[in-house]
Amino acid sequence: MESSGSKFLWALPIFLLCSLTLFNNGVEASHKVYSHLQSLPAVNVREVHRTGYHFQPTQHWINGPMYYNGIYHLFYQYNPKGAVWGNIVWAHSVSKDLINWKRLDPAIYPSKPFDQYGCWSGSATILPGNKPIILYTGIIDKNNTQVQNYAVPANLSDPYLREWIKPDNNPLVVADESINKTAFRDPTTAWFGRDGHWRISLGGRRKHRGIAYLYRSRDFMHWVKAKHALHTAAGTGNWECPDFYPISVSSRNGLDTSAIGSDVKHVLKVSLDVTRYEYYTLGTYDTKRDRYIPDKDMIDGWNGLRYDYGNFYASKSFFDPSKNRRVLWGWANESDTTEIDVRKGWAGIQLIPRTIVLDPNGKQLIQWPVEELETLRGNLVKLSEKELVRGDLVEIKGITAAQADVEVSFSFDSLEKAEPFDPTWDRYDAQRLCGLKDSTVEGGLGPFGLVTLASEKLQEYTPVFFRVFKDQDRHLVLLCSDASRSTLADGTSKNGSAAYRPSFAGFVDVDLSEKKISLRSLIDHSVVESFGAGGKTCITSRVYPTLAIYDNAHLFVFNNGTEPVKIDSLNAWSMRKPVLMNR
Ligand SMILES: *[C@@H]1O[C@H](CO)[C@@H](O)[C@H](O)[C@H]1NC(C)=O
Ligand SMILES: *[C@@H]1O[C@H](CO)[C@@H](O)[C@H](O)[C@H]1NC(C)=O
Ligand SMILES: *[C@@H]1O[C@H](CO)[C@@H](O)[C@H](O)[C@H]1NC(C)=O
Ligand SMILES: *[C@@H]1O[C@H](CO)[C@@H](O)[C@H](O)[C@H]1NC(C)=O
Ligand SMILES: *[C@@H]1O[C@H](CO)[C@@H](O)[C@H](O)[C@H]1NC(C)=O
Ligand SMILES: *[C@@H]1O[C@H](CO)[C@@H](O)[C@H](O)[C@H]1NC(C)=O
Repeated sequence: MESSGSKFLWALPIFLLCSLTLFNNGVEASHKVYSHLQSLPAVNVREVHRTGYHFQPTQHWINGPMYYNGIYHLFYQYNPKGAVWGNIVWAHSVSKDLINWKRLDPAIYPSKPFDQYGCWSGSATILPGNKPIILYTGIIDKNNTQVQNYAVPANLSDPYLREWIKPDNNPLVVADESINKTAFRDPTTAWFGRDGHWRISLGGRRKHRGIAYLYRSRDFMHWVKAKHALHTAAGTGNWECPDFYPISVSSRNGLDTSAIGSDVKHVLKVSLDVTRYEYYTLGTYDTKRDRYIPDKDMIDGWNGLRYDYGNFYASKSFFDPSKNRRVLWGWANESDTTEIDVRKGWAGIQLIPRTIVLDPNGKQLIQWPVEELETLRGNLVKLSEKELVRGDLVEIKGITAAQADVEVSFSFDSLEKAEPFDPTWDRYDAQRLCGLKDSTVEGGLGPFGLVTLASEKLQEYTPVFFRVFKDQDRHLVLLCSDASRSTLADGTSKNGSAAYRPSFAGFVDVDLSEKKISLRSLIDHSVVESFGAGGKTCITSRVYPTLAIYDNAHLFVFNNGTEPVKIDSLNAWSMRKPVLMNR
């Protein structure tokens, strides 16, 4: 890792690939503009807490993905001048394996009347004849008026597609009278209908109703707004970064964004600007009416299904034809203060790309880190057939605990001791429940799981654990990733901060009849990405330990429940750094 005092500071990755992007940042209440900081270059770059194998720019802020002719392209929202949001361009990095990244010059930056105040998120589409095209949101005035533009590669023979051209017939889409033009952004990857028209969706709002607008075009240049939106939902506030794609019902293969048919369901994901989290529904794309209809049992709002119950926003997915998979990519912001971001000289990381498939039960998606990540696995430590009784805390030694990949499967003999689920608890507020019943609160079946980024005496630690409740006729499984004790820093110390330390949590819709459950955590200095029950429930936490850093970080397994739990198998790997990380 370098610490040159150079010029890049803040980046928010945008995902592009098929869609590029994401991040978006609008101007909602949650998004603060620090005009005095946004062009303040990092004097030096603080290394502690920088991730080892997650994508992050050398400095500054990152935020999008596309596969084209053997190369993955990540386009991300980036501030080339400072470690806070501002001066946004489409930075560009390329990779052959989603792990090693080479940094190129920004692909799109403000330069024309149709984007002179900003180049925000969007998506890429591969047109017939193998021609990529990017649609992105341009800001045309100081009032944040948003229009949709396109850009195409200057030279299709350049394998890296370094240079992008923004033709003069931009913008392609401007808001009509019925649309709030300051909440009109983030075009999706386009899909092609049997009627020979392309379609895109765009995020927005009408009062408190979130909207995914729908536009159609025959030639990709002239777009007409459909009479009806693709979908809307009351009370959800502004929608950003909508993502709309098909998923196979019977196979684990991913599908091209235009695929339709009887074996296909659709997913609509939106990013909620108000709270900066995302939810998705599964449903049917009615191609006759050109509308998306969520399945009956889906919650279409704040309590809906989430890709990740932690620090995960502005995600985008893309179809990767080289491996026949759909890959989801999310961005995680920092959870410390803006002042600390400025001091450390960088902010924002890309999470590890995840393959997404439909759960065989048809009720949710399942996510798993892309297989390429396994090429970074180094030294392996194993444990099996180990019983953990009430109060046990066992260290897993012999790996680099600050930079690791851990897979563990637990089993138990009985569900008898599961604690009763108090009917006054909010079934949708898992985070609050995890705060109430943290890893130190003894339970029946659970809490048990991993203790990550721990200092030797547990002055600092981030536990990731399960706790099982009994609710009338069924069991409820809670997965927590609790950052509340992750750092001793009080938010003011010079080397760490703890501005935001939530007890992130989600319920896991898993069948416990075999009395087994698994957990995988990707640990990387200031991030812990966890996948419960094979990827049914995922949680990402950003944490900033002061003691549990580098070789002073430890990894444990624990059980604080009265029911003994057995580790059937545990594999923990030290993780290497990619050879090429965005240099
Ligand atoms: C921005 O909005 C203000 C207040 O509505 C208006 O007076 C001004 O003309 C607008 N500026 C531009 C460039 O549209
Ligand atoms: C296009 O890219 C190819 C491959 O990198 C290169 O050989 C060629 O000179 C480029 N053409 C132009 C006009 O830059
Ligand atoms: C338009 O959207 C912006 C940004 O979300 C919001 O601040 C504003 O109140 C909206 N205007 C109306 C009339 O809803
Ligand atoms: C980071 O994201 C979380 C939600 O994921 C949000 O609550 C928090 O305000 C964000 N922090 C910043 C500095 O944007
Ligand atoms: C388990 O519970 C004990 C007693 O409350 C507590 O001291 C210990 O820190 C807990 N373990 C974890 C990993 O939280
Ligand atoms: C953090 O700062 C404190 C004093 O402010 C110092 O004692 C401690 O060693 C520092 N820790 C790291 C990891 O730099």
